[in-house]
Amino acid sequence: MKTLFDATTIKGRTLKNRLFRSATWERLADGDGRLTPQLLAVYEELAQGGVGAIITSALYLQATARSLPGQLGLYDAAGLDGHRRLVATAHGNGALLLGQLAFAGRDGVMWTANDPSTAVLDELPQYYARGAALAREAGYDGVQVHAAHGYFLSQFLSPAANGRTDAYGGSSEGRRALLMAIYAAVRREVGEDFLLSVKLDCRDMHETPGVFEECLGAATALDAAGIDLVEVSGLGGNKGICGGKKQAQSVFRPEAAAVAEAIAAPVILVGANRSPATMEAIANETAIAYFALSRPLLRQPDLPARWQGGSTETARCVSCGKCYDEAGNNCFFVRRAAAGEA
Ligand SMILES: Cc1cc2nc3c(=O)[nH]c(=O)nc-3n(C[C@H](O)[C@H](O)[C@H](O)COP(=O)(O)O)c2cc1C
Repeated sequence: MKTLFDATTIKGRTLKNRLFRSATWERLADGDGRLTPQLLAVYEELAQGGVGAIITSALYLQATARSLPGQLGLYDAAGLDGHRRLVATAHGNGALLLGQLAFAGRDGVMWTANDPSTAVLDELPQYYARGAALAREAGYDGVQVHAAHGYFLSQFLSPAANGRTDAYGGSSEGRRALLMAIYAAVRREVGEDFLLSVKLDCRDMHETPGVFEECLGAATALDAAGIDLVEVSGLGGNKGICGGKKQAQSVFRPEAAAVAEAIAAPVILVGANRSPATMEAIANETAIAYFALSRPLLRQPDLPARWQGGSTETARCVSCGKCYDEAGNNCFFVRRAAAGEA
């Protein structure tokens, strides 16, 4: 019988429970993508709240490649001090820390998979590798390549979004060639004992044919290449499929369960995980090993500790999607309560 609070070990790194904080853009870094006290406080609250592992927000990997306001960067040695403080915060509370490596475009312009030349794509893996090397130097436990939610890298895997006719399109192998090259470059750079993860879309809002097959194909190929963790999400990950009052729980369970059956690496299910009993049932009924939460931990960063203490409460998050705020992304209801008290 598995429980949410089983400890597990991957390559010598112990997760104290099956709960991850999935990557969540906080909008609290400074103009150079450096850590601020407000951003550090978010990680302190999360780590103290008992989650087993924290995946950072999407990190940009070149000085010119920030794609979101207040986004945290990981692109040079000058930023390492801030990252070391995040690591110390996570580790000081017994949580692992993984950096999410992301690319969405340059100079404030979002790219689509069809925009760059072959030569530009050939150069991208080195930036992921450098980001991973910096993460390792800062003391992170691993990194996650963000290939989900319709952003640049995930578009390559989508038969609908990838119209390329060069080596990066045209067939399933071509569509996942960039992701595989990134994985290989990162692994070469950081070695075997650093955790490498990927976040993939298994579905989109239009039920585009082939999205799940490409997800399964990429997960299987990455598994054969030695990936350590695969997080299964979907386009519309926090709106659309995962939004609104009638939100179904753990929406990508069927796809994540199928991926978990097919590969050796552990699978993380993300998307509307709200009830500890449901997650525990999934852990016992499928091969899914871990559960990631984003919005519930904005509202209640201490949910893992409450559940560990015996609470059976469902997360109070109502999946309203109003987490976005210029002063820092957080829970609408927490903001409203704070405004009421002020
Ligand atoms: C404010 C906010 C920021 C997010 N930022 C990221 C991100 O940087 N990278 C990412 O992969 N997903 C991001 N997500 C998506 C979440 O990781 C997650 O996949 C999604 O919210 C579904 O999980 P949930 O139902 O537990 O919120 C974000 C979600 C929210 C609400």
